[in-house]
Amino acid sequence: MDFPFIFTLPMPQVIPSRVDNHIERRLSAMQGQFLDQEAYAEMLARDDRLVYEVYEIERPEVEGEMLMGISIVHPGKVGKEFFMTKGHYHSILETAEIYYCLRGEGCMVMENPEGYMCVETLVPGTVLYVPPRWAHRSVCTSRQDDLVTMFIYPANAGHDYGTIERQGFRKLVVESASGGSEVIDNPRCK
Ligand code: F6R
Ligand code: ZN
Repeated sequence: MDFPFIFTLPMPQVIPSRVDNHIERRLSAMQGQFLDQEAYAEMLARDDRLVYEVYEIERPEVEGEMLMGISIVHPGKVGKEFFMTKGHYHSILETAEIYYCLRGEGCMVMENPEGYMCVETLVPGTVLYVPPRWAHRSVCTSRQDDLVTMFIYPANAGHDYGTIERQGFRKLVVESASGGSEVIDNPRCK
């Protein structure tokens, strides 16, 4: 039988007091994801940097359960493009997700199979509802701070990374001429 449980997110580190899985994604795991492939190869040759991490609380991946955890995207750029998660659709497309931003600055890039796109800014205190059918990727736009979000979603959702790996997102988040961030069209998406 399951009993209710609690955990804490002690500030300022925001690493959950209970962690069942810790996933690390380094530059080498992001092959083909960044626009500037030359900059990617150069950076990888120098250092296989840690791009983002996920701390998960494990639950059975069945209908009725929820999965939750913390996602941390570290600051950095490949060429002009900010560090980001791989991004995915949920395998069960009709499943939503909630993100709550705890620290840092960034955005969530989203799109759906119907051809709609949306980029929402994330700052501490922002709650983002990603409806069913929307692929999502978090991007850290700060130069020095991690982007830390908490996520909650149906445990049976599953992840489809392949669609995004093949096509990329139609919008990219890059450094602007003034040193801030801007959203541009992905030239690889026709
Ligand atoms: C789960 C979810 C997040 C991401 C995490 C890492 O559905 O959206 O937990 O899994 O932010 O991003 P990905 O999975 O795209 O590598
Ligand atoms: Zn998701």
